[in-house]
Amino acid sequence: MVAGVSLGGAAVAAPTEVQRGAYLFRAADCAACHSAPGGEALTGGRGFALPFGTVHATNITPDRETGIGAYDDAAWLRVLRTGVARGGKRLYPVMPYPAYTLMSDADALAIRAYLLTLKPVRAEAVPNDLGFPFNQRWTMVFWNMLNNPDRRMTPRADRSAQWNRGAYLAEALGHCSQCHTPRTITYGLSGRAYAGAVQVGWRAYNLTSDREHGLGGWSDADLAQYLSTGRAVGHGPASGPMAEAVEDSLRYLTPEDIAAIVVYMRSVPARAEGPAVASGVLGDVSAGDLGGRVFAQVCAGCHLPDGRGRQSGWAALAGAHSVADPEGVNLVQVLRSGTALKTDQGEMFMHGFTGAYTAPELAALSDYVLARFGGVRGRVTEGAFGGK
Ligand code: HEC
Ligand code: HEC
Ligand code: HEC
Repeated sequence: MVAGVSLGGAAVAAPTEVQRGAYLFRAADCAACHSAPGGEALTGGRGFALPFGTVHATNITPDRETGIGAYDDAAWLRVLRTGVARGGKRLYPVMPYPAYTLMSDADALAIRAYLLTLKPVRAEAVPNDLGFPFNQRWTMVFWNMLNNPDRRMTPRADRSAQWNRGAYLAEALGHCSQCHTPRTITYGLSGRAYAGAVQVGWRAYNLTSDREHGLGGWSDADLAQYLSTGRAVGHGPASGPMAEAVEDSLRYLTPEDIAAIVVYMRSVPARAEGPAVASGVLGDVSAGDLGGRVFAQVCAGCHLPDGRGRQSGWAALAGAHSVADPEGVNLVQVLRSGTALKTDQGEMFMHGFTGAYTAPELAALSDYVLARFGGVRGRVTEGAFGGK
């Protein structure tokens, strides 16, 4: 839809507001949440399972009644900054307005200018399924007082222009901290920036500069490759929600903007939290045990016996953080639900396996994968796959 819009390079003439908006819309990843799988783009309907119920994203096509066509400038800035939608409806912070609140007026309005060029589609909101007291939207007033900074980002004079651009892309647009920073008991972001967190059943890893737990061992080139393509040699692929962030957003960013995000992430102070990165092979791992046999039969065809990945670098497991997490949070997720990522070399795809294999087989397989490729003793139980 906006492919071909490029803001990089000196040869490009000053972009129009709509072109700027198209790029910012990508960088802010509005599409990932506002399009349901199999549904028409941006008509909403996708559900987000929260601990207390399910919230559905809404239609953001320019339809006046069911979409965003009736928002004027002031109403648009208000919804992106404070989560107060048309008619005073207070949104839950699954919609990452606590990050978008940092966006400038001009950028927020450019996103709307771009959305208004799209085809209006009538699509009513899917009713949310929330129990009392979480269905009481007015309580979000208090949540916002506690947890929404409601301010614009101002450049830091003691940092480079590149760092400031990276900070803006990561914090105001890409909302990286919404997944990667642990939450407080009131679901606000804690002060432990980028220490890693489990969100909607997936572990978003520690992105601080810690060597053992975070990105300290990644080169700048590794990080840039991961963000722009969804995999990095020796660090595995991006799966689940991170695959979506790459597919719908990060892969459209210019190399200059990716480099700016890398510079910014490098400056995040180290925190030794969460599972450590992969570290070799456990001594007593045996390919002849149940887990090893299942791996050889089922997984090695794509991932190869040594985890290097056949044909595509996206199937390389060795070195991936997901195979070094003793709880196997993301490993269990991909085994249950699969994962997919569109790349410039076609779609990289793995389906789920819970129908075809028993819970004891999948639990043994998980422990084998964690020992063989991550060097950790796994704690994945049969219960993770619906067993006892
Ligand atoms: C992480 C998922 C997510 C992302 C990313 C996201 N949204 Fe949302 N958005 C939602 C959900 C969920 C709701 C409904 C929340 C509720 O009902 O409380 C929503 C609601 C809205 C609404 C309210 C519409 C109405 O009138 O009811 C607007 C406008 C909106 N989003 C615009 C955007 C724009 C623009 C972007 C990108 C800058 C964006 N959203 C990115 C999940 C998301
Ligand atoms: C919707 C949630 C979400 C958002 C938004 C998000 N991430 Fe992630 N991120 C994840 C998850 C989940 C993983 C783990 C993926 C896996 O296991 O393959 C991850 C993995 C990563 C990794 C790999 C870390 C490692 O140790 O392997 C990097 C780097 C990363 N994210 C950077 C970012 C940056 C930079 C942004 C913002 C531009 C961002 N992420 C936004 C959820 C998210
Ligand atoms: C059809 C080929 C195929 C098969 C069979 C397959 N996978 Fe995958 N797997 C992939 C691809 C491709 C990816 C990366 C997809 C992405 O980036 O979203 C992946 C991703 C993963 C990941 C996520 C790695 C990360 O860091 O995010 C794990 C773990 C994994 N596979 C384990 C397994 C196990 C265990 C089996 C055997 C039950 C298996 N896979 C079978 C192709 C396959």
